[in-house]
Parts: sequence; C-alpha cells; structure tokens
Amino acid sequence: MAPVKVSASILSADFSHLLEDCQKAVDAGADMLHMDVMDGHFVPNISFGAPVIAGLKGKINVPFDAHLMITDPNKYIPDFAKAGSSYILFHEEVSGNATETIKLIRQNGCKPGMVINPGTSEETLKPYAKDLDYVLFMSVWPGFSGQSFIPDVVPKIAKFSKWASQEGLSLYIAVDGGISPKTAPLVVEAGANLLIAATAIFKAPDMKEAIHQLKTAGNKN
Ligand code: DX5
Ligand code: ZN
Repeated sequence: MAPVKVSASILSADFSHLLEDCQKAVDAGADMLHMDVMDGHFVPNISFGAPVIAGLKGKINVPFDAHLMITDPNKYIPDFAKAGSSYILFHEEVSGNATETIKLIRQNGCKPGMVINPGTSEETLKPYAKDLDYVLFMSVWPGFSGQSFIPDVVPKIAKFSKWASQEGLSLYIAVDGGISPKTAPLVVEAGANLLIAATAIFKAPDMKEAIHQLKTAGNKN
C-alpha cells in the first residue's frame, strides 16, 4: 500500500500568522496545503479567495490543493491557477459539464480533482476518473471545519478504490471532514491515500505527532 499523504486545511490556521502556521504544518510533515474556498452560495459560509493563496505562493515548498466550494468554478479557475494552486478541486454537484471543467483546469496548467458531497454516489466519479488526478470524498457537509465525521463515506471509498485499482487507475483518493487519528484508520483501510484535516492538525497540542498518527493510520493492524 502506498504511503498515506496528508494535506493540512488552512481553514483552522491562525489567519493573523498564516504563513508561519502553514510553515509549521509543513515542518510537522504535511505534504500539501488544502485551501478551502467558500462563496456563501454553494456553502453557507465565506472563507477566502485567490489573493490569500497568492500571498503564500513561492513561500511554502509544498503543493496547494484548492477546494472550490463555489457555484461557478469555471469562472474562477484561471485566478486560482495564477494564485499558485497545483490541484484545483471542483464539486460534481455544481459542474454543469465536468468534462469542460477538467479541460479548463488542465489548460490553466493545474491538475483536476472532482469532489462529491456526502449525499452523492461514488458512481458519479467513475465516468471522469481516468481524466482526474484526484477524487475527494466529503465526510462532512462542506462549509465549516470542526464538524463530526459522517461514517457513511467509508463504504463509498471502499467501492470506488476497489474499482479504481481494478481499472489500474492511479490517483489521489482523498477524504475531507472530521478526519482525526480516530477516524483516519477507517478511511485508510477503505482505500483512501490522502487525508485532509484542519482541526486535527492546527488545533493539535502536538502537530508533528498528529500528522504522524494520520500518516500511519493504516498500520494499526
Ligand atoms: C469543510 C472543508 C474542510 C474542513 C475540514 O467544508 O472542506 O476541508 O476544513 O475541517 P476539519 O478537519 O476540522 O473537519
Ligand atoms: Zn476542504
């Protein structure tokens, strides 16, 4: 099994010391920084946009994955590409034409990822999986950090990851929402290879230990 990677969601960072907090997470072992972009329409919260990501560009030596929780992702893909995102993640629920969105992300020099909400079937991802670098299973309803993990995501990940390996696909199978050292083993055993966490990293008493526990979540038995 390939080693599990961790992306630290900056939504729980201290925004008055954002660069320092991001560097702390990377020094503690985070492989990526997860940027939760919210527009107050697709989700009932507003977070930050491309300028915040651009402010970190070139100052932190890990890829950024921009999670666009916005109703019109196509309109803003060039901005998030320019801001320094390596991966651009859009929600299946708002993509009128996912093939077009995937193409647009690639044309802007980024790697595409498709996200599904807790209520969306993993079957939705399959027609696009070959063209994706990243699929993301939400294990909370998006909008806020600090919510409880929804366990219904586990069988969805298991079904998708089994299918993906039968198809010989190699892509990130990520999970986002309520991921902690307690819930991580459930999703890693189901086949997840990228864990996204905000609270469990930025609010941990020992960030290095927290990230270590997430990365070794599959080694328990
Ligand atoms: C939720 C966001 C998540 C969130 C995770 O809408 O997409 O990335 O920051 O927060 P935790 O890890 O606290 O559940
Ligand atoms: Zn997210």
